[in-house]
Amino acid sequence: MKSDIDYRNKLVLAPMVRVGTLPMRLLALEYGADLVYTEEIIDWKLLRAERHTNEVLGTIDYIDTTDGTVVFRTCPHERGKVVLQIGTASAERAVAVGQMMQNDVAAIDVNMGCPKDFSIKGGMGVALLYDLPRAKAILEGLVQGVRIPVTCKIRVMPDLDETVALAKELQSTGIRAIGVHGRTKMERPRDPVNEGAIARVANALHIPVIANGGSQSITRRHDILRFAQRCSTTSVMVARAAEWNCSVFRADGPLPLDDVIRRYLELSVRYDNSPSNTKYCVQMMLRSLQESPIGRRLLDSQTMQQICDIWEMGEYCRETQLRYHFAGIKGRRACRPRTQSGDGGPVAEGNEPTASKKRCLEESPDSDPEPLNEENVCFIRSNFIDDNSLPKSKLYLHAVRNGLPRAQYEVQQKDKLFRATIRFDGQRYTSSFWEKNKRYAEQAAALVCLLKRGVESRDELIRNGAMLPAKNGPAAAVVELTDSSKTDAPGESETNGEARPMVESC
Ligand SMILES: Cc1cc2nc3c(=O)[nH]c(=O)nc-3n(C[C@H](O)[C@H](O)[C@H](O)COP(=O)(O)O)c2cc1C
Repeated sequence: MKSDIDYRNKLVLAPMVRVGTLPMRLLALEYGADLVYTEEIIDWKLLRAERHTNEVLGTIDYIDTTDGTVVFRTCPHERGKVVLQIGTASAERAVAVGQMMQNDVAAIDVNMGCPKDFSIKGGMGVALLYDLPRAKAILEGLVQGVRIPVTCKIRVMPDLDETVALAKELQSTGIRAIGVHGRTKMERPRDPVNEGAIARVANALHIPVIANGGSQSITRRHDILRFAQRCSTTSVMVARAAEWNCSVFRADGPLPLDDVIRRYLELSVRYDNSPSNTKYCVQMMLRSLQESPIGRRLLDSQTMQQICDIWEMGEYCRETQLRYHFAGIKGRRACRPRTQSGDGGPVAEGNEPTASKKRCLEESPDSDPEPLNEENVCFIRSNFIDDNSLPKSKLYLHAVRNGLPRAQYEVQQKDKLFRATIRFDGQRYTSSFWEKNKRYAEQAAALVCLLKRGVESRDELIRNGAMLPAKNGPAAAVVELTDSSKTDAPGESETNGEARPMVESC
C-alpha cells in the first residue's frame, strides 16, 4: 500500500491489546476516528505468520503457522487508516515485518511505552527509551526500509528536559509523528496525565505529536478536542474512553451503550471475531454493570451465539455463522500449522516460545488403571453450527440415551496450552493435540470419545479438518488447528474466554 498520512488534526483509536482487533477498529472508524491502531503485535509473531486471503469474510488474514491463530485480520473498510503497532527490540525483525505487511497497513508504529515485564525483559516497549541507539536503529531501519509512514509511541520521562531531548532524537530518524502518553513508566492509568509535558514536547518538535493519556477527562468528542488544546497538539489518541464507549468519537455525541454493543457484536459476527475476544471487549464496555443480570449472563456465556442472545442478536449470529459454514469458511484452516514440537520460528530475545511448547509433549508414565484412548484430533469451532451440535453436548446426549453416567473432564495445563482427558464408561479419552484454551481441549477430548465409540466417523473428521489422514494409513497424524479464537495479548495465547482483570495499560 502506498500510503501518505497527514498526522495533523487526527482523532485516533490508540493501540490496545485485546481491544484493538478488527471489529473495534471498524467501529471506531464508523463513529468518526480518522486513524485506528492495532493492538501491539510482537514482531516474531508476525514473522512466523502467513498471509491469506479469506474469500468468505473478504479479509486478509495473517495466520500463525505454528498454531493456526489469526495474528492480524484486516479488511478494505480500514484500508489507508489502519496503523500496525509492533513490539520489537530488533531493527532487523522490525524491517522484515514492515516489508512483509506494508501492502496491508497504512503505517507502522513502534511501541516504546509499554512498561510491562514481558516487554521490558525482551528489550521492547519502554525499555527502548533507555536504549536510544537501539530505538533509533529500529526507527531508521523502518524509515529507510518501508514505503509507509513510520511513527513511535512513547511515555514521558520523569525529567522533562530529558523527554524533550529524547523526542528530538527520535524525530531525527525521519519518523512522521510521535505519540506521547503523558505518564511516566512508573505511573499508572489512574494517575493524572501530565498535559504540560506533552505540550513541551509538542512545542519542541516539528513533526506532529499525538497527545495521549486523557481518557479520564473524555466522554465526548468535544473533550478530546479540549485535551488536544491543553496539550498544544492537533491530534489525540484515545484508549480507555474508546474502550468504554467507542462512540466517544462521534460528532453528534456518544450513543447509548446498548447501541454501541449491538453494533460491535454485529461487526464481531461479520468478521468472525473470537468469542473470547468479543466477550472481553463487551465486558470492558459494561464496566460497573458487570455485576448486573446482563453482566452475569455475559460472564456465563462461552459462544458467540450465547453472547449475541443477550442483546437479542442470536438469530443474526446463527444465520451468519451458518452462511459462513456453508460457504466453507476456512479461517485458520487456511494454513497448516507446524506441530508443537519445537519449530516455533524466529524468536525475540527473552521471548522464546518453543522450549516451553516442547515441554508440553513430555508426559509422565501413565499408571491409571482405566485404558487410555488417544487420537490426534483438534476442535474447530466453525464446524459446529449450533451449541447443540458441539461434541460435549453430543457426548452428554449419548450418555443419557445409553443410560450411562455423565463424562468427567480433567484438564491439564502446561504453559499456555491445554489438554483434557475424559473418563467415561470405564475408559479414558484424550486428544494428543494441545489446544489453546480449556474449553477447546474438552471439546477435542469429547470428539475423540465420540470417534472411538462410533458416534463420529473418522472420514467426517478428516473431511472437516479436525484430523488429517496419516500418509501411510488410516490413523491421523498432524492436525490442522483452526478455530475462530484469537491470540489476544502480545506473545500470549487465548485465555479460556474468561474475563481477565482490566489490562494494565502499556
Ligand atoms: C486495555 C489496554 C490495552 C493497551 N494496550 C496497548 C498497546 O498494545 N500498545 C500501547 O502502546 N499502549 C497500550 N495501551 C495504552 C494506551 O494506548 C494508552 O497509552 C493509555 O491507556 C493512556 O491513554 P488513555 O488515557 O486514553 O487510556 C493499552 C491500554 C489499555 C487500557
